[in-house]
Amino acid sequence: MPTTQTYLLGIDVGTSGSKALLVREDGAVAASATTEYPFSTPQPLWAEQDPADWWQATVASIRQVLAESGATAADLAGVGLTGQMHGLVLLDAAGAVLRPCIMWNDQRTAKECAEITQKVGAARLLQLTGNPVLPGFTAPKILWVREHEPDVYRRVAKILLPKDYVRYRLTGEFYGEVSDASGTSLFDVGRRAWSGEMLEALAIPRAWLPEVTESPVISARVSVAAAAETGLLAGTPVAGGGSDQAAGAVGTGIVSEGTVSATIGTSGVVFAASDSYRVEPQGRLHAFCHAVPGMWHLMGVMLSAAGSFRWYRDTLGGAERAEAQASGRDVYDLLTEGAATVPAGCEGLLFLPYLTGERTPYPDPNARGVFFGLTLRHTRAHMTRSVLEGVSYGLRDSLELMRALGLSVQQVRASGGGARSALWRQILADVFDAEIATVNVTEGAPYGAALLAGVGAGVYAGVRAAVERTLHITGCTEPGPDTPVYADYYPHYRALYPALAPEFAELAKTVSRHLEGC
Ligand code: XUL
Repeated sequence: MPTTQTYLLGIDVGTSGSKALLVREDGAVAASATTEYPFSTPQPLWAEQDPADWWQATVASIRQVLAESGATAADLAGVGLTGQMHGLVLLDAAGAVLRPCIMWNDQRTAKECAEITQKVGAARLLQLTGNPVLPGFTAPKILWVREHEPDVYRRVAKILLPKDYVRYRLTGEFYGEVSDASGTSLFDVGRRAWSGEMLEALAIPRAWLPEVTESPVISARVSVAAAAETGLLAGTPVAGGGSDQAAGAVGTGIVSEGTVSATIGTSGVVFAASDSYRVEPQGRLHAFCHAVPGMWHLMGVMLSAAGSFRWYRDTLGGAERAEAQASGRDVYDLLTEGAATVPAGCEGLLFLPYLTGERTPYPDPNARGVFFGLTLRHTRAHMTRSVLEGVSYGLRDSLELMRALGLSVQQVRASGGGARSALWRQILADVFDAEIATVNVTEGAPYGAALLAGVGAGVYAGVRAAVERTLHITGCTEPGPDTPVYADYYPHYRALYPALAPEFAELAKTVSRHLEGC
């Protein structure tokens, strides 16, 4: 019997691999495949990747999901793309890649960021692009190539972001979309179009940039050549898609104002959908276009969220690691069971999770982790719990910046490894004083990209309709009796960074002096 199912394909050009996710119209995941690729660090602080690797990995992942699901290419209504943001791909007039992609986590451009800020003015930059210019963003990378690789720069004909390069390989067309373009520092985020003013100030030709569409719009179709490589049908519609963060939010159902997501992965991200273009006056939150047409999003990024807990497990969790090995139980379960035996607020012990510096709300590479308030009464269980609480307070810092911009927070959807712990979800609900929900889908960005393709292809009436059809809440944690305890301790947490910041800076100087001497 021929199948009558309609499928959608999400492709995530991630940092460590390209993932293809085949989703049925009703939201069920039919197949998933990831093909990994490396990145290189030719110099300290650099991070580069070969765009050809993305394409080869994408082809392999698409072929695998088609083979495993039993779906035929003719059942596919559309393809949606998502991926790592900010990366710079330079092409010559023949469409050949000129140099490896300079990735989002590459930190070589501090000088170019200062130059752009000086040229445009910090206030105007914030007004136009919604953000200060950060070393990870695209524009300073273009300036770096102009300065350091003039031979490459002279041959540039097109500039693309990572997922848009894969679109070019898949369709032969140059298109971008608004959510990813927002992270270039060249985009007028309020007007949802390239910023003539930024391009002029930085002397970057408009013709180098692709046309941008709203995220669900079908801007291109699979080419005959790509069809032969991937096994897809030529002519299959390809939607704009979205940045990994914006598509991830669609895949978690953060598509209307009042819903917020908190992702506790290695890093932590607080993401809020907004009906209007709101900019944090000091630029402490990212303000980008959302993948929902006519919406924006605000985002705070904490660098060590579950990463703090993993560090704790590896350094101070020796007893639980040994017990886990002997009993076959999960080491994190054992750690959180210990944490649950001590009271909320840890009897005055606070943990600052700045183990790799911080981004939101303190963009400070010198910030460091701290246990504060230790007494003879404190046990390891207190220290474990204070790590969970400290990360939660740090995420609340982003939430408070959003609340200060007038966003009401009705529900926070938690995802990522940290959200698997019931204790951590309860701490989050209490610290945020908001309901914490979990949803049935944990695939994030490629799932969101598949839904965006479904909207573009007419399978769903709109992004919200797609989310209503496919996502549902699987659990809710309400703020409990410890909420007032955390309300009392949070101001102490807040006071610590400003008090310690000058000493973090001095400490960094001493440490680097000693390291140089080694
Ligand atoms: C967002 C950001 C990351 C990257 C890599 O600003 O830097 O989300 O897109 O995932």
